[in-house]
Amino acid sequence: MAQHPPAPTRRLSTNERETIDRTVEPLPPALELDEHNYFDNNDPPDYLESMMSDVNDFIEKHPQDRIVLVTSGGTTVPLENQTVRFIDNFSAGTRGATSAEYFLELGYAVIFLHRQFSLLPYSRHYSHSTHCFLDFMEEKDGKVVVGSKYQSEMLSVLRKYKDAKEAGLLLLLPFTTINQYLHTLRSLSLALQPVGPRALFYLAAAVSDFFIPPSRIPEHKIQSMAGGKKLIMDLDPVPKFLNRLVDKWAPSAMIISFKLETDRSILIFKARQALDRYSHQLVIGNLLQTRKQEVVFVLPNQAENWIKLNDQQTIDDIEIESIFIPQIVNLHSEWIDNSAST
Ligand code: PMT
Repeated sequence: MAQHPPAPTRRLSTNERETIDRTVEPLPPALELDEHNYFDNNDPPDYLESMMSDVNDFIEKHPQDRIVLVTSGGTTVPLENQTVRFIDNFSAGTRGATSAEYFLELGYAVIFLHRQFSLLPYSRHYSHSTHCFLDFMEEKDGKVVVGSKYQSEMLSVLRKYKDAKEAGLLLLLPFTTINQYLHTLRSLSLALQPVGPRALFYLAAAVSDFFIPPSRIPEHKIQSMAGGKKLIMDLDPVPKFLNRLVDKWAPSAMIISFKLETDRSILIFKARQALDRYSHQLVIGNLLQTRKQEVVFVLPNQAENWIKLNDQQTIDDIEIESIFIPQIVNLHSEWIDNSAST
């Protein structure tokens, strides 16, 4: 068999080396100036005002309830203003949609800020799965009905969905781009300020780290070049707004962020580094490969706490969120009690 010559290797540039070097210090937390620079130069989405009016109505309807803001799914980074191409990430929104259901079960009102077309609470059971939703249906006497083997599970999901809807406990808010996400997150945080410690932020979205600022983004579709020229992208780092959220946007709320890694050996270090930098209440670490079977809670001044499904729970298809969301609710109760006593 003919041997292909090895692909030519080339030296990585300093910048390329740094982007894959996991020992390099992360971007410093955003300052007030970074916040002004970003939000003054990146316009809010045109729907934001009407979305916020729905948010304010929702908050008013829950004067005593605990309200959790769940962020879910990945943000996109458009490469053109009239966007044909964009950078995306893997997140399907499973963590967020699943968690939202358990928060609802435990009495929370849920604002679900999600990537448009990613998984939603309740409908997630019948979308994006290996089965097409039509596989759950069958024909009986000329009518479409749910297949007999799915009846009891679907009835239970349907009841929970209808209950949440009728009680007005679930508000669905979509985003697509990183800019839409950041503007909405900031506006939501400010709107939730009057809720005080009853508000919980559960930031499970996979947020883009790089973007093209408006001053450099091309208006129209990038053209393919004659002669096979490369497309070289020049992306700016997205400011790390988590500290602005903790200190200024939502100072009384309990805030939980997630840390995703692919290398187990650095997960705890990275989670603790985030906790030290942003001084919030909890980082939940997870690994891309095992995120549905195990997570680790990293809290200030405490040893980390791994939560893992055991063999029987894995066989029984237990969702790990059903185990750790009640633990979060307990931590939130402590947060509310401590806030009342200070
Ligand atoms: O959707 P699934 O397929 O179920 O996957 C779920 C998940 C793996 C995406 C989820 O469990 C998870 O880990 N989400 C966080 C991913 C991550 O590592 O994010 P990050 O390191 O980019 O950000 C960490 C935190 O900082 C985030 O909670 C974010 O709110 C915050 N952040 C991020 C970027 C930015 N510019 N400013 C921020 O404040």
